[in-house]
Amino acid sequence: MTEAYKIIDHIYDTVVVGAGGSGLRATMGSAEAGLKTACITKVFPTRSHTVAAQGGIAASLGNNSPDHWQWHMYDTVKGSDWLGDQDAIEYMVREAPNAVYELEHAGVPFSRNQDGTIYQRPFGGHMQNMGEGPPVQRTAAAADRTGHAMLHALYQQSLKYDADFFVEYFALDLIMEDGACRGVIAMCLEDGSIHRFRSQAVVLATGGYGRSYFTATSAHTCTGDGGGMVLRAGLPLQDMEFVQFHPTGIYGAGVLITEGARGEGGYLTNSEGERFMERYAPSAKDLASRDVVSRSMALEIREGRGVGPHKDHIFLHLDHIDPAVLHERLPGITESGKVFAGVDLTRQPLPVVPTVHYNMGGIPCNYHGEVVTLGKDGPDTVVPGLFAVGEAACVSVHGANRLGSNSLIDLVVFGRATGHRLKEIITPGAAQQPLPKDSADLALGRLDHFRNANGGSPTAEIRLEMQRAMSAHAAVFRTDELMAEGKEKLTKTYQRMNDIHVTDRSLIWNTDLIETLELDNLISQATVTMHSAFNRKESRGAHAHEDFPNRDDANWMKHTISWFDGWGGKGGGVRLDYRPVHEYTLSDDVEYIKPKARVY
Ligand code: FUM
Repeated sequence: MTEAYKIIDHIYDTVVVGAGGSGLRATMGSAEAGLKTACITKVFPTRSHTVAAQGGIAASLGNNSPDHWQWHMYDTVKGSDWLGDQDAIEYMVREAPNAVYELEHAGVPFSRNQDGTIYQRPFGGHMQNMGEGPPVQRTAAAADRTGHAMLHALYQQSLKYDADFFVEYFALDLIMEDGACRGVIAMCLEDGSIHRFRSQAVVLATGGYGRSYFTATSAHTCTGDGGGMVLRAGLPLQDMEFVQFHPTGIYGAGVLITEGARGEGGYLTNSEGERFMERYAPSAKDLASRDVVSRSMALEIREGRGVGPHKDHIFLHLDHIDPAVLHERLPGITESGKVFAGVDLTRQPLPVVPTVHYNMGGIPCNYHGEVVTLGKDGPDTVVPGLFAVGEAACVSVHGANRLGSNSLIDLVVFGRATGHRLKEIITPGAAQQPLPKDSADLALGRLDHFRNANGGSPTAEIRLEMQRAMSAHAAVFRTDELMAEGKEKLTKTYQRMNDIHVTDRSLIWNTDLIETLELDNLISQATVTMHSAFNRKESRGAHAHEDFPNRDDANWMKHTISWFDGWGGKGGGVRLDYRPVHEYTLSDDVEYIKPKARVY
């Protein structure tokens, strides 16, 4: 098998897979630490999905209203519905201001206040005074193109520190030996050459798997490639049942309209013209956290108060805001409104609907970015040589529901923390043992299998079937019956992978093959998502279980850990276990925030 493909070997200290915000920040940190660093990415770095992050990055700078890191911590814990690990949350919110100032110094063109400080806007679930309110202006923004600005600055910094970029390379599989990660195998998309990277550390920064759903704000590249590799390596994923729906995806197109729109004064109405969020969240209203707003919208639609001919969406109003303000602070969504909904935001409401946006679950890791699993050292056993950052990871700072603008800060804080950890534990240029003889077998066996797949089911057909099952059976509201059906459907869909058909046999820009490999990554994660969701008999954060409408801390204050055992087209085989939530803080500067009812 291996002989059929020519392999080009590389040796690095660190290999980062993915070049979005977290991957670039880890690349930069590793290279800055003097480690020979490679970054492998399937798209050009500035086209990574972080480019779509609009509204901003949360940090308690206190530029536009009083703020404190403890207030940020409280909001994040409450937003997570108490499933977030409080040591990691404390780490993130305390490091957040420095991480933002670093970005500023790296060249991110943040919007400014009159006095020259970074402009910060309100975002959902971020409050002053330990949740008491009023809303805090905590989200630092570069108009509504914050992620775009960050990617450019971080890519430039990584180049400055001499990181090597392998652009348009698709990572196939990890090289594991005796439970440790020794490198990764990738394919160059342009010429099909196979590259074997031996390294002291691999950092997975591959983003989420939003494209397991039919409509998502995520780019088509968001196929969870790191999560797929981790499952194939026999390691588990964590908290996969928690999928975030962003309240304001453009109806029909799924394109994101930033929460910053509501931060700048926008509001939602139903078919009666009512500002219904006042009923659901009397204090925070349209700026309640995302799961709350998405559920409220879904209820309005379900109860017949949706707008449009099919009463299946909601209106977002920005038409009362000064057009000069929209032009300055929200130029991107003003354009998106025109292009994707044919709406002039300055005069008309925008049709929106809750849309899949973010995966709270992912590769379990600690706040140093080290991947952990259940093992000889208990539930926090470190997998040597393997790191995960960004949406691919589950640190867990977001728990059951992430607050808007806590994603960008997660990317840079933990990308940076990973750089620090790599510096501590890796000796630059240290000799690396030869790789085992079969190091490329998993990757190339899989590649060859799909490249020559000659069944009757085109990749696009199977993908659509999976996406429809996810959208119908693991949506905003879930029931036992719905999820049981979802599990069955996905098992059958996975079995169709035995019958898959790839038309293009070449190795030159073979998008048919790459989409098939991506589907293979997606479908294992879709399956563990459905099983984890069915298993969790409570409602918490984004997991709204109608048969169990309350949070159940006595039984379910724990992280779900899931392994996929259905390989080879068997499908359905998912093994579940648990890790305890870290119910302690990192320092004595702050007390553990005890669970209580979550109202906005
Ligand atoms: O609404 C937004 O701008 C998205 C931000 C986020 O997901 O953090």
